[in-house]
Amino acid sequence: MHAYAADDPVFVAMNERGQRETNGQLGDFCVKCHAPMALALDETSDGLNIAELPSHLRGVTCAYCHQIDAVVGSHNAALQLNEDGVMRGGIQEPIATGAHSSAYSNLHDRNDLRSSDLCGSCHDVVTPAGVHLERTYEEWQSSIFAEEGVFRLSCGNCHARGYDGRAADLPNAPERRVHRHGMAGVDIALTDFPDRERQRAWVNEELAGSLYASICVGPLPGGAEIVVLLDNVGVGHSWPSGAAHDRRAWSEVIAYANGEEVFSSGVVADDQALLSLEDPYLFLLRDTGFNAAGEETHMIWDITSVESNLLTTTVTTDPLNPAFYHYKEHRYPVLGAVPDRITLRERIRPMGLDVIDDLIESGDLDPQLRSAFPTFDLESTVLEWRGEIGDCVESN
Ligand code: HEC
Ligand code: HEC
Ligand code: HEC
Ligand code: HEC
Repeated sequence: MHAYAADDPVFVAMNERGQRETNGQLGDFCVKCHAPMALALDETSDGLNIAELPSHLRGVTCAYCHQIDAVVGSHNAALQLNEDGVMRGGIQEPIATGAHSSAYSNLHDRNDLRSSDLCGSCHDVVTPAGVHLERTYEEWQSSIFAEEGVFRLSCGNCHARGYDGRAADLPNAPERRVHRHGMAGVDIALTDFPDRERQRAWVNEELAGSLYASICVGPLPGGAEIVVLLDNVGVGHSWPSGAAHDRRAWSEVIAYANGEEVFSSGVVADDQALLSLEDPYLFLLRDTGFNAAGEETHMIWDITSVESNLLTTTVTTDPLNPAFYHYKEHRYPVLGAVPDRITLRERIRPMGLDVIDDLIESGDLDPQLRSAFPTFDLESTVLEWRGEIGDCVESN
């Protein structure tokens, strides 16, 4: 997604709309993170010419990440770029290559917690109105993963898996621990792009063990009560995280009695916006942005406040601390029947179709792209309950 960050048609559409609606006040706000090399080299000031730039200036590029030599703030890409051509990395004693000079940097060493500051400076967004909208770095900083000790895990420890290989394709290059650069989360390329299908597989892999889920069924006069519990067990920050105001994560629950469906929530067709459902029991995880008039808005430059409903991560290992428990429970009443079979799956759309429709309606996004937006199901949450009142089924 780093390579795709300025090609992403949703990014292009939103930046264009933002420049128009703010009369250019948005300036370089978006390209600071989505095309930092083009900005550093004065090849763009507002991203409106991004399509004309060569690919080595679009997105978060190799030369950008590898020439960062200081982190000067915790959000909005407060990174210092040293255009000296020295590529910094986590290798202690790099061999000489004819291509460029190389140097060790603790900001690029995933076994050093300071490397998370480099990632984090882009992975926290404060909007022009001062709202801390995207908070992946802050969430990680307050977790047990950001402390020295047995749980210590930097962004790179989870997102750039190591394998044995060569850092440079040279005859004298030694076998080393090198790192996968795919850095998958939940987004995938929407248009033809290298590795798009592998991205999809990586996202499924990342999501597979992220959550713990259970279904329990309790008594209710004339029916039953379904209790779905979700806990964040594999993610080093909230789930979802980052652009959580664009994400829609929800539970699909269907209950049956004697083979007939007696209750459902969160059932949506692939091409239907989740928020168009009239579903009083929907278990929805997302952030919601509001504008100055208190209306919901999808557009970063309009957001003046945010409400958050996410699965937070582990912040303490002390069971006596109330913060130890961070799961969420959701209750569904089934009336007029006692179910004998219930299915659950937790689903996520990286981008809600309501956001996409907003951009299509304003004329900024090609309607043909609408069918390219994926929905993922989290493997560990695909559960089937069969039993009696009082029984539970859970992720293994
Ligand atoms: C401080 C850095 C930063 C700034 C500023 C920023 N972004 Fe992003 N953006 C990110 C990161 C990091 C992601 C990766 C996804 C995440 O964190 O959830 C992202 C993801 C996105 C996505 C991807 C799809 C998704 O799921 O939401 C779009 C579209 C996007 N940004 C548009 C914009 C626009 C338009 C602006 C300017 C109004 C902007 N961004 C400003 C860092 C930034
Ligand atoms: C988002 C930032 C980022 C981008 C973009 C990026 N890298 Fe890296 N790269 C890193 C970090 C961080 C490490 C160090 C990992 C470690 O040692 O803990 C690294 C390590 C490396 C290494 C050393 C071997 C290894 O895998 O540890 C090479 C070589 C490398 N990157 C090349 C590239 C190339 C080529 C590109 C573009 C195709 C690129 N990088 C893009 C952050 C980035
Ligand atoms: C303990 C492992 C772990 C650590 C540490 C971690 N992550 Fe993640 N991260 C995950 C997993 C697993 C997912 C996949 C869940 C998903 O795709 O939503 C994820 C998802 C993401 C996403 C996609 C957003 C979303 O909605 O889930 C971004 C962006 C991200 N991580 C960035 C970071 C950054 C930046 C750091 C460091 C500040 C970090 N991560 C630290 C495990 C980790
Ligand atoms: C210069 C800013 C910048 C830096 C530094 C940076 N990122 Fe990102 N990252 C982005 C942007 C922008 C995107 C989103 C691209 C898009 O979706 O259009 C992104 C996307 C991602 C995603 C995929 C998110 C998703 O929604 O699927 C992950 C995971 C991620 N970054 C992890 C990292 C890690 C780990 C590091 C540090 C080694 C890092 N990033 C450093 C800007 C940055």
